[in-house]
Amino acid sequence: MFEQKSKSLPPVLPKHIGIIMDGNGRWATKRGLPRTAGHKQGAKTFGDITAYVRDLGIPYITAYAFSTENWKRPKDEVDAIMNLLREYLKDAYRFEKENVRVHFLGDPAPLDRDLQEMMADITEKSRNNTGITVNIALNYGGRAEIVEAARRLVQDVRSGLLREEDITEEALSARLYTAGQPDPDLIIRPSGEHRSSNFLLWQSAYAEFIYMDVLWPDFKPEHLDKALWEYAARNRRFGGI
Ligand code: IPE
Ligand code: IPE
Ligand code: MG
Repeated sequence: MFEQKSKSLPPVLPKHIGIIMDGNGRWATKRGLPRTAGHKQGAKTFGDITAYVRDLGIPYITAYAFSTENWKRPKDEVDAIMNLLREYLKDAYRFEKENVRVHFLGDPAPLDRDLQEMMADITEKSRNNTGITVNIALNYGGRAEIVEAARRLVQDVRSGLLREEDITEEALSARLYTAGQPDPDLIIRPSGEHRSSNFLLWQSAYAEFIYMDVLWPDFKPEHLDKALWEYAARNRRFGGI
């Protein structure tokens, strides 16, 4: 728990919010626009909501931008999403000076070389920033992440860095993309779907899930406030009484 700035918000805020940014396609289709127009508006919403979360003093946000399963979509749509990412990354260089730490969750290998380079560069340049950490889950899958962590554990045991009896929850957590970060307390999914779609499977063990009917491109700070109030009213027991 920590102090928060706004007076109109609940006294207890999450330290880490996850957002499954869903509903872009439906938002566009409803307006007779191509699905890519929804992704464009969704990217704008992402920028606005990140800025808002930062103003609230919440230290971590993770946004699900592209899943390991999203490659199944038509190439045109995937290309359009990657181009929006390219625009976002060009702009993200300013975060270095704005004390925002940017981090990517997922396997960058299948992405275009220029995107990979920008991602690595921004991560490196913002590494020591102490303001909000913005995690962007890109080519991210919760199962793939756990498999990768298991592989690293095996390597570390083989190389003598780790003993088999030291394979613990902490040791596995330390090999996830979110190593060193607190687990998400709250996961918000707009768009009316009630599922995790492979998002932060390990880290969300005790997250509060809030599902909202609004489509992501229509998501406003008021929707976040509403989720924060609902979060504050929940009784988190972590298995206790
Ligand atoms: C989320 O919106 C964006 C990505 C998954 C990349 P969708 O594109 O899934 O929008 P809907 O669910 O089809 O409306
Ligand atoms: C989840 O949304 C992935 C992202 C928001 C990036 P999807 O639209 O891909 O999820 P499903 O297919 O409805 O489960
Ligand atoms: Mg969707």
